Amino acid sequence: MADGAAPVGLLTQWLTPLAAGRDARGLTRRLRPRAAGDDLIDLAGNDYLGLARDPRVVEAAVAAVREWGAGATASRLVTGTTTLHTELESSLAAFTGHAAGLAFSSGYLANLGVVTALGGAETLVVSDAHVHASLVDACRLSRSRVEIVPHNDVEAVGKALANRNEPHALVLAESVYSVLGDAAPLTALAAVALEHDAVLLVDEAHGIGVTGHGRGGVAAAGLAGLDHVVVTVTLSKALASQGGVVLGPAVLREHLVNRARSFIFDTGLSPAACAAALAALRILTDEPTRPDSIHATARRLADECGVTPSAGAVVSVPMPGPRETVRAAELCLANGVRVGSFRPPSVPDGISRLRLTARAGLTADELDHACHTITAALQEVS
Ligand SMILES: Cc1ncc(COP(=O)(O)O)c(C=O)c1O
Repeated sequence: MADGAAPVGLLTQWLTPLAAGRDARGLTRRLRPRAAGDDLIDLAGNDYLGLARDPRVVEAAVAAVREWGAGATASRLVTGTTTLHTELESSLAAFTGHAAGLAFSSGYLANLGVVTALGGAETLVVSDAHVHASLVDACRLSRSRVEIVPHNDVEAVGKALANRNEPHALVLAESVYSVLGDAAPLTALAAVALEHDAVLLVDEAHGIGVTGHGRGGVAAAGLAGLDHVVVTVTLSKALASQGGVVLGPAVLREHLVNRARSFIFDTGLSPAACAAALAALRILTDEPTRPDSIHATARRLADECGVTPSAGAVVSVPMPGPRETVRAAELCLANGVRVGSFRPPSVPDGISRLRLTARAGLTADELDHACHTITAALQEVS
């Protein structure tokens, strides 16, 4: 522009056709602000242990704000590491059976940090086709050669590892897959990784607090603490807070402190989030049967919807298409039940789904009502 001004309507011209294209395919996403204390039965959130509003968790966060202030004040290497951070890291490592942990300000950033810090030209990354977007983005940022293998195909992982020229390799999997709700063959993956001198990285976002009596799938499989096994967890689901932690050998923690850019160049996790996660972890330690009711609820939901039982809390109900998915979710909402709807691009295989998340602490009446509502909605849209 001669006078330096941007042309009027530039973004409108650019973005309006994109929005129209999304609308035409039934793929528009909208934010729906929740009202505090709404009385919906929530089967969409990830508060699997029902601890997000537990007074012990809430009070721990409030006390931390009073003691430490509202934010971490700087990145972890400057003033952003408090004694709460290190207590959270060592408690979570001890609970899950790893030597050390390092907290990031989200699970997304934990995945970015560990994959990029281990990746590069000398590292092949072998990724399951269904890993979470944060791991997909981590692969892209890692500058590694990336081989995507079919879901849960251990043989394909072995082949990719055997045929590599890179000295190092990293295998990516989730202990419970976030969209499908199924489990990774962790024992076989750890064995094939070891056979080929590779590291296995397991994202336990949906395992921690849920499987293995809350300690996650890696601990349940007896793989925690092995020198070639690394775990990432989020604090934002069963642990009722925010943040993410990488768990593994002490030498890995040291490497991440020095090399993980999403750790180094990010303000530390807030003290309130650390304290809330610690309180949730204490409750989980003191009440080891708490995860049991997640599984009972997940089984009932899967039965009612006629789908495969989940390995964790996520019950995945394939739908005919994105519009039917949104319509079914709306029908549920109108009857007091909030369910998740996943559509492309959030589903790696392009199949739209209702995503139901089982939560500890639902009453029998609430569960009956939810099951009735969901099955009626499924019938109406099919
Ligand atoms: C499998 C998986 N990994 C990582 C994340 C990211 O965790 P956070 O929400 O703490 O960033 C999520 C959350 O959506 C997830 O489902």
